[in-house]
Amino acid sequence: MDAKRETPPAGRSRVLRLVVNGDLHEVLVTPRHTLLDVIRGELGLKGTKEGCTTGSCGVCTVHNDRGEAILSCLTPALEWDGESITTIEGLESGGRLAPIQQAFVEHHAVQCGYCTPGVIMSAQAILNATPEPAEADINDGLAGVICRCTGHIKVKEAVRNAWRYAGGAGPAPGGSHD
Ligand code: FES
Ligand code: FES
Repeated sequence: MDAKRETPPAGRSRVLRLVVNGDLHEVLVTPRHTLLDVIRGELGLKGTKEGCTTGSCGVCTVHNDRGEAILSCLTPALEWDGESITTIEGLESGGRLAPIQQAFVEHHAVQCGYCTPGVIMSAQAILNATPEPAEADINDGLAGVICRCTGHIKVKEAVRNAWRYAGGAGPAPGGSHD
């Protein structure tokens, strides 16, 4: 569990079976655990960021099995028993960045990077729903993620141009960024 968070009380623990990025995990959790607790604290997938933990900032965004954005900080883990989710680590394929990730690189849509996983997962959710999104779709889809460094101008540019990088995305970087 992350140092800054309180460990959820023991309560009545149960085994959660959850597929994350295609891999099945079995984790002992209590009713107080959120998906974010499981992703970061139990599975060590630190790409998904922890911000407000109250549903306001969007940095904890992951996808359900329909590719829709969900806020992992607000989602009780046990409600997702038997389900599948995708985190930012699951977007790349075969060591290659997803087109939306490459678009962020090419369009300089990243500054400090803290919000970036949540913004990219929200952006990918827009594209999952609408491969050629209108400006209103992009605005709606990004409305729930806050970037403290800058606005969404470059981000929106990347979303509009992600199609250009299909099949030509660059190698996924190694290492982790907590
Ligand atoms: S950490 Fe989930 S919305 Fe802010
Ligand atoms: S790039 Fe720094 S918070 Fe968004």
